[in-house]
Amino acid sequence: MPTSDSVPVTANQQTEKTTPVIRTAAEIRKDFPILARQVHGKPLVYLDSTSSSQKPYAVIEAMSTYYEMYHANVHRGVYEISEEATARMEKARVKVARFINARRSKQVIFTRNTTESINLVAYSWGNTNITAGDLIVLTEMEHHSNLVPWQLLAQRTGARLEFVPVTGEGLLNLDVYEQLLQQQPKLVAFTHMSNVLGTINPARCSTKRSPSACRCAGP
Ligand SMILES: Cc1ncc(COP(=O)(O)O)c(C=O)c1O
Repeated sequence: MPTSDSVPVTANQQTEKTTPVIRTAAEIRKDFPILARQVHGKPLVYLDSTSSSQKPYAVIEAMSTYYEMYHANVHRGVYEISEEATARMEKARVKVARFINARRSKQVIFTRNTTESINLVAYSWGNTNITAGDLIVLTEMEHHSNLVPWQLLAQRTGARLEFVPVTGEGLLNLDVYEQLLQQQPKLVAFTHMSNVLGTINPARCSTKRSPSACRCAGP
């Protein structure tokens, strides 16, 4: 039975490029059967994707095939369809690792949603590594799912929370962010794109320790 920690994603796989196919929005809409229906007499436009993403045919078909053909306990059964289900799950983990540029598939942990994922990090890594007086930096544009787990962690441990303010233009105040980074925070957690403002934060630069790196352009 394959195990999740046995699959390194090679440098080649990480950088594997396919020729992009340019498709129009109308063509992409056709992949999503729900977008063919009308609501209040108008074609459906759905913007609540972070909460519940609509599914394209490829996903719906893969889920149906799984339930029709392979549904079984993974990593526990010693019978044919359980081993098939395990192999398919691990194949998906490798694909996701490749997609997010992870070095090994075991670095990919499937959870049910964002809130569960962040709570998992807060209770596992956070409980072990955050202690009284440590600084945790968030931003004022975070959704509850990236706020409450850190507030609770701060309550449990005595850590200090600071927030990067949002400017009048709806951008992160990078001057304050740089000052907070100079205080050597133990953890920085920020959204890549705000669901309220539509702001796309410079994620690549914001992960750098050097404050001046935050001045780069683009996401
Ligand atoms: C913008 C945004 N982020 C995060 C979440 C958290 O979603 P979940 O924990 O259900 O994945 C939601 C849920 O509504 C959301 O709207």
